Amino acid sequence: MQRKNLVIALLAFISISQTACNQSAKTESSAQTSLSGDSIDYRPQYHFSAPKGWINDPNGLIYANGQYHLFYQHNPFGNVWGHMSWGHAVSADLLHWEDLPVAIPEFTNADSVSKTGIFSGSTVVDKGNKSGLCPDGTGDCMVSIYTGNVTKSDVQTNQYQNLAYSTDKGRTWTQYAKNPVLDLQTKEFRDPNVFWYEPQQKWLMAVIKPTDHQVAFYDSKNLKDWKLLSLFGPQGDTTRVWECPSIVQVPIENEPGKSKWVVFVSAGHPQKNYLGMQYFVGNFDGKTFTLDNENPKPIAPAVSNPVDWGKDYYAAIPFNDLPGTQKNPVMIGWLNDWEYANKIPTATFRGAMSLPRQIALRRTPDGLVLVQTPIAGVASLRGTKKEQQNLTLTSQSQTLEKSLDNVYELEVEISPGTAKTVGIRLAKNGSDGPGDEETIIRYVNGKLELDRRKSGNVAFSDRFPSVETAPLKPQNNLVKLRIFVDRSVVTVFANDGERVITDYIFPTKATGAIDLFAEGGTAEFKKITIWPMKSTRP
Ligand code: FRU
Repeated sequence: MQRKNLVIALLAFISISQTACNQSAKTESSAQTSLSGDSIDYRPQYHFSAPKGWINDPNGLIYANGQYHLFYQHNPFGNVWGHMSWGHAVSADLLHWEDLPVAIPEFTNADSVSKTGIFSGSTVVDKGNKSGLCPDGTGDCMVSIYTGNVTKSDVQTNQYQNLAYSTDKGRTWTQYAKNPVLDLQTKEFRDPNVFWYEPQQKWLMAVIKPTDHQVAFYDSKNLKDWKLLSLFGPQGDTTRVWECPSIVQVPIENEPGKSKWVVFVSAGHPQKNYLGMQYFVGNFDGKTFTLDNENPKPIAPAVSNPVDWGKDYYAAIPFNDLPGTQKNPVMIGWLNDWEYANKIPTATFRGAMSLPRQIALRRTPDGLVLVQTPIAGVASLRGTKKEQQNLTLTSQSQTLEKSLDNVYELEVEISPGTAKTVGIRLAKNGSDGPGDEETIIRYVNGKLELDRRKSGNVAFSDRFPSVETAPLKPQNNLVKLRIFVDRSVVTVFANDGERVITDYIFPTKATGAIDLFAEGGTAEFKKITIWPMKSTRP
């Protein structure tokens, strides 16, 4: 379904009752009851999820007032999309999050009829009160720039960019009285990503024209008056509407002192009609983004470079104002796919956030590639490790763990040797037969795959059972995998972040076996390490 239709359909669903909000909450809580038959708790233990209800995109990611802030698209009244508001959590380390009350709720407009939904956007600290919104020039006043999605009788009428500000560390927010600040009188204009552009002492906004497949760049000196600078696109994947743009300067890790600008856009996916993110490498002069001749060659015509090759990583944006010790950008993305997002089989919560990913560019024989690694602090969540070395398998399987809680990190270094296929079966239950439940990560024909077709509950949507495929070359004959399993979330970082696959799985048991296997020849697992992971839940 086109995103626009999805929005309209969901708005229709949410509008079940005009009379009162709690009426629709009732409807949604009965939807929760019918979904609460899960035999196990799918809530991730070291990935962020909302205390209750629906989440989608991360919003307003910023380090401000000595804390990391994660705002997010949230339905405070139910576990399907609707009543879009900004949820809020804060953290000292990007891993342990403290849940705070809803920061910016959906509101009814002055006409008492139409409503403004708080769609995706970003947050900045207005040092020196350039906007004039911050009394007494408070140094740490936060300003959020978000899309107001206006609906009248549940029919969408407009999408424009609004401001809200907070002088108490993001706890309470005031809407700017003269909103909107940027209005093209259209229904498709959203997701402003704003940051301070130091070289020209101004704010920059990347905002999307979804159906035109264009990122529009604007600048402003005061966050209120915005001037169009340039447009980027259409480019790369235009099979679906574009959403959630950002532009960020990214260091080249093996060329110290060098960097490129990277544009991120949420859009289509290498597999037809799914959603994912793509990136473009180029240069930016404070006005125009130009594709570099070093922009990695697209994997296939009309497809650009996917950020993540799985189905469940979308709408990621970078943090603003990271502390000086953090030299590389850090991004968080929403774990889900609009193709089935409202149906995933969880009850009290629905949706989660990725681990924070540090990003860099790496020069490889194939040109520059985006590399993503979980932030270093993730290693502090590891429990006591189990290690094994030099395990050779010839056309056979071996059980590594018989029954392990599905909350762990597994690191393997594989020399594929003569094996046609080599890999790992996770969250495996059954009697070693065709009916087994398992999630397979395999390396075959120069490709890394994640196969979730038999991962457990896959029947809730015919779009869910799938095999993800990413091209991957061994490095010095080795395939290196860091695999994070967190109940329903699996993320594979391959070859130090050169490829990432993120997918939900819904196994029917909370524990499962891990098997290693080689087919059609001999492969060697040079190093295998497993760590149980500590919960970061509040
Ligand atoms: C992306 C998105 C954004 C929009 C928000 C609404 O997932 O569709 O474009 O602002 O979600 O919740």
